[in-house]
Amino acid sequence: MDLAGKNVVYLGGFGGIGQKCVQELLRRQLKALAVFDLTENAEALAEWRTGTPGTDIFYQQVDITKKEDIEAAYNATAERLGHFDVVVNGSGLMNDRLVELTIQINLLGVIQSTLTALEYMDKSKGGRGGLIVNISSVAGLQPTALMAIYSAAKTGTTSFTRSMANPIYFAHSGVSFVTICPGFTETPLLDDISSKTTFTYHTPMLDMFNRVRRQKPEDCARNLVQAMEQAKNGAVLMLELGETQEIDIPDFWKPQIE
Ligand SMILES: NC(=O)c1ccc[n+]([C@@H]2O[C@H](COP(=O)([O-])OP(=O)(O)OC[C@H]3O[C@@H](n4cnc5c(N)ncnc54)[C@H](O)[C@@H]3O)[C@@H](O)[C@H]2O)c1
Repeated sequence: MDLAGKNVVYLGGFGGIGQKCVQELLRRQLKALAVFDLTENAEALAEWRTGTPGTDIFYQQVDITKKEDIEAAYNATAERLGHFDVVVNGSGLMNDRLVELTIQINLLGVIQSTLTALEYMDKSKGGRGGLIVNISSVAGLQPTALMAIYSAAKTGTTSFTRSMANPIYFAHSGVSFVTICPGFTETPLLDDISSKTTFTYHTPMLDMFNRVRRQKPEDCARNLVQAMEQAKNGAVLMLELGETQEIDIPDFWKPQIE
């Protein structure tokens, strides 16, 4: 997909990975960029607007745990722009001590945002089609015991996004789906891991996690925006240490038809 002239919605655009993605996206001559996030970062917004006067950049307050916030933000964005071409669900929280919130932000929020966006994008409902990118994690590819709740939520996001990419759905909606699974990336999400693990007792996994190599958010962002340009429906992409690897997840169950 050529991003020039496109309207993009980015959820979590003020986060560590989000800000770097926005900077990368703004080099593509977007028509408009809507940043949905919990709190406004006026400084970042002002800098982006000054640096990219040709792009309509605006903020919508969204608490992704609130369906009504999500609906209001998409509604306001559709009224302002007419349509949007790309949505990135990039909000996130890693804190297994907050069980409900971890599921709400990392899984339920992604589902609600996706279903709401489809109301506007789905060709069978009068939309123009497009691309939805959901940010999962390497913890959404394999069990990650140190953060079992986060891993469960991210695995849900991977599976939900792959399901949405079903060719039968695509034939109706014209909306492609890509799952992004970053490895450890240097952002506030990883601050103070020991206070956010599933259990309070010390495990050797914590020592190992504290020593895992981390990629720079700008390297993750560059590959993420390239994945948006490739827009390969159904792709699951691991973004690890500045590289992109497409992950082939096999079907284990083959239904036996009567
Ligand atoms: N940093 C990593 O190592 C890493 C690895 C794999 C996946 N990820 C995923 O990448 C995405 C971006 O994470 P990041 O590393 O930039 O983290 P971050 O903490 O820097 O950013 C998280 C973003 O989510 C937003 N957010 C949190 N709660 C919200 C809520 N209730 N409503 C709306 N927005 C909310 C925050 O405001 C922020 O903009 C997340 O989905 C995260 O799970 C990160």
